[in-house]
Amino acid sequence: MRCRKQQLPDASAILAAAGSGERLGAGEPKALVELAGRPMYEWSLDALQGAESIGGVVIAAPPGMADQILVGDERTRVVEGGGTRTESVLNALALCESELVLIHDAARPLVTSALFDQVIERVASDSSLAGAIAASAIHDTVKQVSDDGLIAATIDRSTLRAAETPQVFRTAALREAIESAGAGEATDEAMLVEAAGGSVATVESDQENFKVTTPADLERAAAIFATRP
Ligand code: C5P
Repeated sequence: MRCRKQQLPDASAILAAAGSGERLGAGEPKALVELAGRPMYEWSLDALQGAESIGGVVIAAPPGMADQILVGDERTRVVEGGGTRTESVLNALALCESELVLIHDAARPLVTSALFDQVIERVASDSSLAGAIAASAIHDTVKQVSDDGLIAATIDRSTLRAAETPQVFRTAALREAIESAGAGEATDEAMLVEAAGGSVATVESDQENFKVTTPADLERAAAIFATRP
């Protein structure tokens, strides 16, 4: 899979859309839940297909439901996801031959093409990096607590960031990191690359790139789409 223009980074994208979305309680996989008139995954797919630096997209579909995913163009393919997020990413990674690979959660439908391009550019412009991820500042004061709920420490929030997707990696570094981590429950790919010794940068994201987890998040996302042209 190659990007469209020679001078742009050689990047492809994985849309992780295979989760069950139990906390949303919609009775169907979260990526297929309707949001502002279309299945949730289509919002992220549009943004991926509109990004200048992405040459192709692989969607990890909910197991057994690949036929319910509409790809929209010839540069997009669908694979079945797995039982864990890492398995879903690995299944899609098998189709990615580009130098860089971007991973995005279908559960973050308010993402923009511009954020995809920015995170890819961050990695492409610095050869010392194994990856870069979108991240946002934390506005609450954060406490570390013990098992019984007592506060053990207050963490300096100026040093903290909430990790989001998109996350972009050198494809070889990501493959190696997943291999050395083995089967497990990683909540993002950056933690695997960090554990393998890779340097990963953050790119500041805005507060609209939140993850849809609960019915209230779904309502908030629909209200924001209603204000977009
Ligand atoms: O469960 P959570 O909301 O943290 O999932 C984040 C993203 O990972 C979602 O977009 C979900 O579809 C994806 N995922 C996946 N395969 C799994 C589990 C989650 O693609 N087995």
